[in-house]
Amino acid sequence: MQTREQSAPFPHTLLLGNFYGGKPRRGSGAQFERRNPANHHDLVSLAPETTADEVRAACIAARDAAQAWARTPAPQRAEVLGRLVFILTQDKEQLARFVAREIGKPLREARGSVQEAIDTAVFFQSEGRRLYGQTIPSELADKELFTYRRPLGVVGVITAGNFPLAVPSWKIIPAILCGNAVVWKPSDDAPGCAALFFRAWQRAGLPPGVLSIVHGPGKDSAGQFLIEQVDAGLLNKVSFTGSTAVGRKIGEICGRNLQQPSLELGGKNPLVILADADLDLAVDGALWAAFGTAGQRCTSAGNLIVDRRAMPLVKEKLVRRTRALRIGDPSNPDVDYGPMINQRFMDAFVAQRETGLDDGAELLLDGRRILAQDEREGFSGDARLGLYASPRIFDKVTMNMRIAQEECFGPTINLVEVDGFEQALSAANATPYGLSSAIYTRDAHAMLRFKEEISAGMTSINNSTTGAEAHLPFGGNGWSGNGTRESGIWVLDAYTRWQAVNVDLSGKLQKAQIDNVPTTLPEAVDLEPILPARR
Ligand code: UN1
Repeated sequence: MQTREQSAPFPHTLLLGNFYGGKPRRGSGAQFERRNPANHHDLVSLAPETTADEVRAACIAARDAAQAWARTPAPQRAEVLGRLVFILTQDKEQLARFVAREIGKPLREARGSVQEAIDTAVFFQSEGRRLYGQTIPSELADKELFTYRRPLGVVGVITAGNFPLAVPSWKIIPAILCGNAVVWKPSDDAPGCAALFFRAWQRAGLPPGVLSIVHGPGKDSAGQFLIEQVDAGLLNKVSFTGSTAVGRKIGEICGRNLQQPSLELGGKNPLVILADADLDLAVDGALWAAFGTAGQRCTSAGNLIVDRRAMPLVKEKLVRRTRALRIGDPSNPDVDYGPMINQRFMDAFVAQRETGLDDGAELLLDGRRILAQDEREGFSGDARLGLYASPRIFDKVTMNMRIAQEECFGPTINLVEVDGFEQALSAANATPYGLSSAIYTRDAHAMLRFKEEISAGMTSINNSTTGAEAHLPFGGNGWSGNGTRESGIWVLDAYTRWQAVNVDLSGKLQKAQIDNVPTTLPEAVDLEPILPARR
């Protein structure tokens, strides 16, 4: 990783290469640029588009590293994580500033996303001293049964740009702790963040080759080339965070190779407000869930499902507070949200407006690309240089509309009016997704029913849809994933296979299910004489 001085006011451009087989590689393909989404004059990173041959070479090299790493005792592997915690903590502010610059996350949130990576490393550092298997009693004498977690081999990791350190850490940290080697294709929206994370692993003393990095876009490029290595027999596991459409294709390729990928896909997350809720608290949660990170989280709320008795007040409070949101430069500590991460998200956000109007929904707030400085009071970005969007609120949305069904990464929320809990629950379950969800109510029974019947992997009671903690299972159902989970102890199953071992010390061949079955059955007892006489 080199840096190039630029004329003020921009900091250095990171000139990136790949890293595999334990060595830096310049790459023979074209280079791609990553520019600051708040200011397109700021060239943040230049990285190679890795070719198919180079991706293949990276996977072959990772195989050798995986073998040596798997033989390293887990507590020693975990020591690397201890040092990683130290480095990430020491560099937290610098990393957060880089996250803000490269993908436009407001500094407060960027710090939180670095903290999420630190929390993950803390958790798995101590897991290296557990990584428990079991001892199990045998049905035969002088025989012992054990289970062990074994590494899988080489794991291909593909991540999205909206959490460029936290989400990769959810995958790479447990995969490496479990004794696998990883070939990582980070988002082309965040190659610089990826390089800084990679550098932290190197400084933490990870042996060369255990983590490799191959940059590039996904489609027809490095991401696709990496997935092709499953068919080539060079990857033992794929872990992907991104769109449902891509996840489906990855699932097909892994499926025909009898592998289970980890797929964390889209969401259309419902946030329900019942009539008895604390409405100020609920609007706080809705505002953060809809517009925090400019709505560019998998866990952002898409549908705000409100009881008709609460709707007038919710609408009034939500519109008033949304109008007051401060949009602008992510380095400004006061902004509520910064720019869109890329042009693709912006285009989809702009297009959603027409889809909603075609569907018959009504605009309460007309979210658009901010093009001129004076379009919004308190706007602190540069509208000519950055990809900024104003918040959109659709009213009169019904669950059959496309805007209620389709994920849209952007600052937009749909108001769906319902009558009572049953209608709210069925609206909340009426999308093919099932990632996150939330309900605001004071009614304990409604809380219980919602927890039991919501078809989402994660649910919040009186809290927003976002904000999962690093030691809870993260993941969804339906179109949101294939049932695998990230984080906490649950992710260990994604990066290990169970081995069952039996040790027979009896000195003779003992046959389970055959040698220990009693040869004589107890005599049949005639119960007639002791049963009470029938009346
Ligand atoms: C994502 O958007 O992919 O729960 C991850 C949250 C964050 C992680 C989001 N802790 O919103």
